Amino acid sequence: MRIVLFTGKGGVGKTTTASATALRLADRGVKTLLLSTDSAHSLGDALDTRLGNEPAEVVTGLWAAQIDTQRRFEAAWHDVQQFLVDMLARGGVDPITAEELTVLPGVEEVLALLAVREFAVAGNWDVLVVDCAPTAETLRLLALPEALGWYLQKVFPAHRRLARGMRPIAAMMGRGDVIPPDSLFEALLRLSDELAAVRELLADPAVTSVRLVLTPESVVAAEARRTFTALALYGYSVDLVIANRVFPQGRDTFRQAWARAQQAQLVELRESFAGLPVRELPYRATEPVGVTELRAIADALYGAVPGADPAALGAAPELMSVDTEGEEFVLRMWLPLVERTAVDAARAGDDLVLTVAGHRRVLTLPSVLRRCEVVGGEFADRQLRVRFRPDPTQWPR
Ligand SMILES: Nc1ncnc2c1ncn2[C@@H]1O[C@H](COP(=O)(O)OP(=O)(O)O)[C@@H](O)[C@H]1O
Ligand SMILES: [Mg+2]
Repeated sequence: MRIVLFTGKGGVGKTTTASATALRLADRGVKTLLLSTDSAHSLGDALDTRLGNEPAEVVTGLWAAQIDTQRRFEAAWHDVQQFLVDMLARGGVDPITAEELTVLPGVEEVLALLAVREFAVAGNWDVLVVDCAPTAETLRLLALPEALGWYLQKVFPAHRRLARGMRPIAAMMGRGDVIPPDSLFEALLRLSDELAAVRELLADPAVTSVRLVLTPESVVAAEARRTFTALALYGYSVDLVIANRVFPQGRDTFRQAWARAQQAQLVELRESFAGLPVRELPYRATEPVGVTELRAIADALYGAVPGADPAALGAAPELMSVDTEGEEFVLRMWLPLVERTAVDAARAGDDLVLTVAGHRRVLTLPSVLRRCEVVGGEFADRQLRVRFRPDPTQWPR
């Protein structure tokens, strides 16, 4: 079972390359499901067919669906939302406004990820190819399962205990309705478990890899670099960079200028993504829409059929490790393309709070490190190293 995510700035060719990859897999006899989590659903346009929210076979071996997050949102979040709506309504907010206030940003997208996992565990497909939303949204999305799961696990049990303690008192005062019911907490904890499972699946480098799609232009490349760093921080492995819409050489000055600028960008890209393969896709004379055109894109990406296995994992670097060094443990985290000044790490209880170039990750420490104290840290060679020493007061003699 493999999951391949395609992300990148808006309009660079995510949908096109994801569709071409899925099509090539199907042509090689691999049962493939192509999913879109982008609310601007354009899979159907790229494949030149109509798609719904349930997988439908588009060509032999290729199923496709556009996840309807709104519907899933209502199914999964209904209990929680209902409670909040009732609360607000009792507070005098009119029901329609209350409904709007309780639509949490980001939750819908998380539900799209839950759907990806459901399809993965259903076991009906060998490979899932996911056409993601533009990078900023996708990053927020990929950071969420852990952040929200952390919150639900750490904060809600406390709320729940508090609610249990308060309920008899509130009931005595005739206000039992202001305490959230246990079913609400159960819904939240279930969501927290599901998020943890999604996260486990997507952060497993043996299952999931991310492909960064870009066009060789400085603005797009800069965003791709930042995305690469953030993905490493959140523990997702990137195994391929696709440079799309590369201008062929030409005689006219317009084309020559573009070709020269893009070639310079490609040289820089290869340097900054050192270790990752960068595949180029030429700018085609026509819009690559429909199965025939997408097959030509797949040829350019993976070679003529059968070509290379489009789902094969590229050599992604190991993102995090814990080793012993003498008396100490060293947690290493690989953070590409950042300056030392942009990295900050702080211990907070059982967690390590990492801030990297504006992105934050609360990393729950492996149990062996929780009973240790931090004795040092440094950032060098694109690696964050945090050194821990067993805290004698916390280890049984
Ligand atoms: N190599 C290419 N040559 C020509 N047109 C392309 C190429 N790749 C993508 N396109 C076109 O560019 C537009 C944006 O591509 P799309 O895959 O929808 O981008 P995204 O999903 O990243 O927003 C589409 O009209 C698509 O057909
Ligand atoms: Mg798209």
